[in-house]
Amino acid sequence: MSTAWTSRYAQRAKNVRSSAIRELLKITQRPEIISFGGGLPAPDVFPVERFREACSKVLEKHGRLALQYGPTEGYEPLREMIARHTARYGVKAKPEHVLITSGSQQALDLIGKLLINPGDRVLVEAPTYLGALQAFNVYGAEYVCVPSDNDGLRTDLLEAPLRSGPKFMYVLPNFQNPGGTTLAEGRRHELVLLADRYGIPIIEDDPYGQLRYEGEHLTPLIVLDRENLRRDFSYVKGNVIYLSTFSKTLAPGLRLGWIVAPPDVIAKLVQLKQGADLHTSTFGQMVAYEVARDNYLDEHIKLIRRVYGERRNVMLEALEQYFPPEVTWTRPQGGLFLWVTLPEGMDSHQLFEAAIKENVAFVPGDSFYAANGYAEEGRRHLRLNFSNAQPDQIREGIRRLSVAIKNQWAKLHPGYDRPVDQHVFD
Ligand SMILES: Cc1ncc(COP(=O)(O)O)c(C=O)c1O
Repeated sequence: MSTAWTSRYAQRAKNVRSSAIRELLKITQRPEIISFGGGLPAPDVFPVERFREACSKVLEKHGRLALQYGPTEGYEPLREMIARHTARYGVKAKPEHVLITSGSQQALDLIGKLLINPGDRVLVEAPTYLGALQAFNVYGAEYVCVPSDNDGLRTDLLEAPLRSGPKFMYVLPNFQNPGGTTLAEGRRHELVLLADRYGIPIIEDDPYGQLRYEGEHLTPLIVLDRENLRRDFSYVKGNVIYLSTFSKTLAPGLRLGWIVAPPDVIAKLVQLKQGADLHTSTFGQMVAYEVARDNYLDEHIKLIRRVYGERRNVMLEALEQYFPPEVTWTRPQGGLFLWVTLPEGMDSHQLFEAAIKENVAFVPGDSFYAANGYAEEGRRHLRLNFSNAQPDQIREGIRRLSVAIKNQWAKLHPGYDRPVDQHVFD
């Protein structure tokens, strides 16, 4: 509906469309639907009691400070804690290299604000995180897409796109959203070398790296860049900006994330953040600090790994049991998602309609591609979240989805003489 305001919208507002996922999620909120759609953590592992105690403690001990304006850079003890925490994953930053943001999503927005002029190209994976595209679109980003496979971004295809001069690369090395894939060790080295050779910086978005259920932790790109190439452990230089968040380890409702970057970049981001929200909630930061302290965060992450690891296993087993052999999927070593590939001819949007009739939901894959050229490819995929539903719901949801797939397949192949998966569907 057009109003007196519509003609006054700025061009950047016209660049924005509502996220397909948010629209779909509205449908999937019906209680009878088992949803693998959202990227929601499991509410049953939220440490509610610890939060309650932390809120009381913060108000009792530091009430006046907690309710006051605070520094844009963030609450100092929390910055120090984040620096210590990320060091355990290899990122040995000092507190002054850490900027606390209102979720990683704000970090993406600030980075867009800092780096993107209208028409600038950003190199992204195909597929990539939809929220990053939404953040960058506002600033008029264009995209160079590079495909990924089971080992993450195809670094063998990078040189020509890098030669075309993108402003920066946006990469998700661990348990990618939506693919569930992890950038292999060799490709990490190759990526930072190529980034250095062509002078193209990297935004490394890592909300899931702490949630690994099998295999060894792989070195973050920011570490490879600084230690191998710059021999600069002071984090003054560097070709990589690193993002992470408490959303997947403590609670997304906190809206707390962070950026690790060289001090000059932090200083500029601070100016931009002042214009956005002055600072992230002082109370929220102090509560998060109080919750996470005394090693609680690390202990809690162990619990999450156990719970999500089990849910991942249940989903993989159910897929194996119910899905026809024509359908394939990734086997994530961590994170929240896996990525399903449908046989040629099947369409994830038609499947979505059929799945809703069976009371199960997912996100069709085309939402996760930056360029129109991938529309057809995108419609052969779906993203499934395995963190949010309980194990028995996961099994039942995958069974329902297999029925929807069977029905779609039967429509596409009338008279198909081999049932898609006789042992399951009969
Ligand atoms: C890859 C990626 N980056 C950033 C975010 C945003 O996280 P936050 O809740 O910290 O804003 C998400 C959330 O799902 C994500 O998957």
